[in-house]
Amino acid sequence: MAIRFENIKEFIGSRVVWDDRADLFTPEAAAAIRAKVEERTVVVFPELNLTDDEQLQFTELMGERQRLTGRFNKQEVENDDVYQVTLDPKINPQPEYVLGTFFWHMDGITVDAPPPFATLLSCRIAPAAGMGGETEFASTYAAYEGLPEEEKQALEGMRAVHSVKASLSPIADAIPEKHRDKVLNIGLVKEHPLVWTHESGRKSMVIGTTADHIVGQEIPAGRAMLIRLQEWAAQPAYSLRHKWTEGDFVIWDNTGAMHRAIPYDKSTGRMMHRTSIAGTETVAA
Ligand SMILES: [Fe+2]
Repeated sequence: MAIRFENIKEFIGSRVVWDDRADLFTPEAAAAIRAKVEERTVVVFPELNLTDDEQLQFTELMGERQRLTGRFNKQEVENDDVYQVTLDPKINPQPEYVLGTFFWHMDGITVDAPPPFATLLSCRIAPAAGMGGETEFASTYAAYEGLPEEEKQALEGMRAVHSVKASLSPIADAIPEKHRDKVLNIGLVKEHPLVWTHESGRKSMVIGTTADHIVGQEIPAGRAMLIRLQEWAAQPAYSLRHKWTEGDFVIWDNTGAMHRAIPYDKSTGRMMHRTSIAGTETVAA
């Protein structure tokens, strides 16, 4: 095959190297990339400069394209399945959900469908150096595997309650009061096992700011444990920070990772085009 992968860090991240761009758009390449996403959590295509049509084609080669979500945005794209991640008020009049991505989370964990398998981001406008906007990823597979055996045992059977309200609680005070309740109460309140045993047999943790508390535990103790697990997964060994260059394309395994954006301001112009691959597995203990 005319594409190659290079590891970025020991437990997370691969970079794709290609000779001919066309070699990426084949079913064989898509299968190899999908397997690499599952194995390495994050796969980076430096300065690939995809068009929206190419990104959609790529998404469909790798799996089932998730139908979306342009509904909060006044999008400037042809196809509604491409979501523009931006703080530009002309496109995104409700910035709260993007501001909420400054905190560790998994996508699509509070809806009545399997969480998306992967999220795909194409960088259209990168913030200037020192202006934030990098994206960080933390492998919840590697983090689980690295836990001491007695901690793994302790997590077995635990369930957490997830909500958008919990994920926006760090910014709730900053949401204009007139629509705060509406913004906080979108989505469902969903219970998930803390440890996800995937069909592959590998285990990851379902954590992040959507996780509000642990079922059957006192709120302070459960919340403290959830935050401690976030910190564990975010340690440098299991996480990766990607500094965006315009044209970069990144795919990550949303079922085995948390992600967050380093805070940035709308003045940076940061613009990402996002597509998603539907999940095929519900979270199972
Ligand atoms: Fe996200």
